[in-house]
Amino acid sequence: MFAVPTSHSGLIAVHADLLHFRSDPGPQADPGSYEYLPDGLLVVENGRVVQLGPYAQIEPSLPEHTRMLDYAGCLCLPGFIDTHTHFPQTDMIAAPAAHLLDWLDRYAFPHEARFADERHAAAVADFFLDQLLQNGTTTAMVFGSVHGQAAAAFFRAAQRRSLRMLAGKALMDRNCPENLRDAPGGGYGETAALIEIWHGRDRLEYAITPRFAATSSAAQMEVLAELAADFPDLPIQSHVAENLSEAKWVAKLFPSARSYLDVYDQYSLLRRRAVYAHCIHLDAGDRARMAETGTAAAFCPSSNLFLGSGLFDLDAMREAGVVVGMGTDIGAGTSFSMLRTLADAYKVTQLKGHTLGALQAFYLATRGGARALGLTHKVGSFEPGMEADFVLLDTAATPLLARRMEHASSLEERLFVLMTLGDDRAVRATHVLGEAVYQRDAG
Ligand code: GUN
Ligand code: ZN
Repeated sequence: MFAVPTSHSGLIAVHADLLHFRSDPGPQADPGSYEYLPDGLLVVENGRVVQLGPYAQIEPSLPEHTRMLDYAGCLCLPGFIDTHTHFPQTDMIAAPAAHLLDWLDRYAFPHEARFADERHAAAVADFFLDQLLQNGTTTAMVFGSVHGQAAAAFFRAAQRRSLRMLAGKALMDRNCPENLRDAPGGGYGETAALIEIWHGRDRLEYAITPRFAATSSAAQMEVLAELAADFPDLPIQSHVAENLSEAKWVAKLFPSARSYLDVYDQYSLLRRRAVYAHCIHLDAGDRARMAETGTAAAFCPSSNLFLGSGLFDLDAMREAGVVVGMGTDIGAGTSFSMLRTLADAYKVTQLKGHTLGALQAFYLATRGGARALGLTHKVGSFEPGMEADFVLLDTAATPLLARRMEHASSLEERLFVLMTLGDDRAVRATHVLGEAVYQRDAG
């Protein structure tokens, strides 16, 4: 089922219905925002897209040695991009709790303590990455535990699979169990050492990873400001404004801040490639500041519904000009599937009085995610030169999908049915740099 890609050389041509986005289709489904090539051909050389177009037009001109991959009838999209997830929470997915802070204490922290054991971390990283690939996700921004060795184990597992991944060890020095703390005001040295080894190695990037304002002292926030200044191109990941009690607590911990988001602003942690998960309890001033600084939001509908945190306001974020990507937020989120996550996103927007169109949803799960992570020049679309990570979706994967699809007349309707009824069963194959790394039907 899973394979480690061995070579990225030679010419590969993928026969499928191709879909990718140039920009956000928005609620009006702007037809100029995407390219749809039913019965198309995607040509890949040395792991990169070189050409795409109608099968009938391109196929006759291909050299004889081209490896043809026949996925006719499947929908081929750039691999999904998960802008917020936690690999050390894989084993405690689906754990019920009253709310976020209760859940952190009862499940997240105790499970993360096990990541002091590097072998455990390596085993979970392998399983976690296989789950991503089985669900068609090829790039993710990933939280580690506080342990540097566990983050290194994650990077090694991602490197073995040739994946484009962003990850970091969590920084936390208070309000968490003793065995999960950096030294007071600590974390700089261990983070800098990991950056030195892993940032820019193959397809990996190091993300500066403060867990959230509540678990960093003012001294550690100073360290974070220093790290951000010393490594200005690095991505940053954290959490903000997820839960009302959490927000009240942060207001007490940082009384001079205007808002929860402002804590991060005070320490210069709002910028391009900084991705904050949740962003539910924000005000107009916060949204304007995110837009102004190029800071992105990870919309994590499954997690927000599961913990009862609240409803993300996608329309307000779009109107304010905030960049948004999708996040599964494993393990508060209850599925690795981006399709399931989009289904939850749709329901959240309905409750907010808006409708999330299917084209906009698939944009958010692909190019929108790449934009949030500052990676539109590498992944998230099929423009020539892009890295050839892609997913093949089988629109007739289950009897119900097959029946419902018979009544789907437009691309948008097909996509909507896929995201509403689909899950990992609809992922026929996942390719990384052109090579198959997951095949649903392989023995
Ligand atoms: N806030 C701080 N840590 C976490 C976490 O692990 N999960 C979620 N959902 N929110 C957080
Ligand atoms: Zn999270």
